[in-house]
Amino acid sequence: MGIKKRSGHIGVLTSGGDTPGLNAAIRGIGKTAVNDGSLQVIGFRDGFRGLMENRSVRLDNQMLSGILTLGGTILGTSRDKPHKMPMGGKKVDMTEVIVENYYKNHLDVLVCLGGGGTLKNAYRLAQQGLNIITLPKTIDNDIVGTDVTFGFDTALGIAVDAIDRLHSTASSHHRIIIVEIMGHRVGWLALGAGLAGGADAILIPEIPYTIEKLAESILERVSRGKRFSIVAVAEGAINRTGANKIKALEKKMETAEGEDHAALKKKVKALDKEYRGSTIQMAEELQEITGLETRVTILGHLQRGGTPSALDRLLATRLGTKAVEYIRSEQFGVMVAVDGEYTRPVPLDEVVGKVNYVPPDHPWIISARNLETSFGD
Ligand code: F6P
Repeated sequence: MGIKKRSGHIGVLTSGGDTPGLNAAIRGIGKTAVNDGSLQVIGFRDGFRGLMENRSVRLDNQMLSGILTLGGTILGTSRDKPHKMPMGGKKVDMTEVIVENYYKNHLDVLVCLGGGGTLKNAYRLAQQGLNIITLPKTIDNDIVGTDVTFGFDTALGIAVDAIDRLHSTASSHHRIIIVEIMGHRVGWLALGAGLAGGADAILIPEIPYTIEKLAESILERVSRGKRFSIVAVAEGAINRTGANKIKALEKKMETAEGEDHAALKKKVKALDKEYRGSTIQMAEELQEITGLETRVTILGHLQRGGTPSALDRLLATRLGTKAVEYIRSEQFGVMVAVDGEYTRPVPLDEVVGKVNYVPPDHPWIISARNLETSFGD
């Protein structure tokens, strides 16, 4: 392509849930490219929708200035997928239009900043022949192939701060306080925040719980004179009954094909809806069994808001600047992955559709168990 020999065009978009650090990454890409002198950067608004509608903004020095500390994304985001774009109440495959607009804008590469969903969409565009690079962003830390994702550290800090604050009120009122923490289908945030915040129980999707075991651990604390308990629960946490039902269906899915497979997938989705995110119901059951007053705090989107932490700024800046180095050396179809203090290009087909679950023997879990933190199992 010889991007160094003429004025190259880098397209950038942010897609999926916003994350602290996105602007730091955009700035990292933009300033490195602009300083290069031969690269222009075009930002597309609201994720893949902006590329489809050709809504763009030139990311020059003025646009890139003063955004390092800003939360959210200056480009806006959406969860719209190229092949299922909401259009007049219907979902339409707009991939062709997106590919056309890539070429109309004379793009040499499209850098997509996003999580698991974005990776899938970006990979589809790479399969259409576009030059794609992705950056791993999500508060959930659920992307494989990278040590960590940017946004996770800020969300972790917010959740720990919340747990710290809940301690004093739980203690004053001698209550159980359950704090629901984001994380989609994985438990990194709840586990990290629970461990750093000293939660007495941590419930994560990777370790299905029973309400009886959870209640037992809290009553055991009571018997030791502890008059309050903090439970950190991941939004995707699931009890053993629900987990077993889903596991059985997933096993059937392995051999099912066509319509049978689709029907099973639908059933799994329904069970997910029924069993995950049932924190309020779980609190009622816990109160009933323990006889202890129980309250729920759902942190929700607070965890995605505000200024990125220093670590997230560092990480996003490193990844953004590195992306431009990859562009210069024409390494496309890759995610810029974190590998210790370094980065490495990971082919998109190695990571797409995969989920970075918390391994049951992860050091954080072992530490928590050593502290007699209950996982409700
Ligand atoms: O992926 C980030 C995340 O914040 C998840 O933790 C959460 O499940 C989801 O996004 C919420 O999505 P939305 O902002 O669309 O409600």
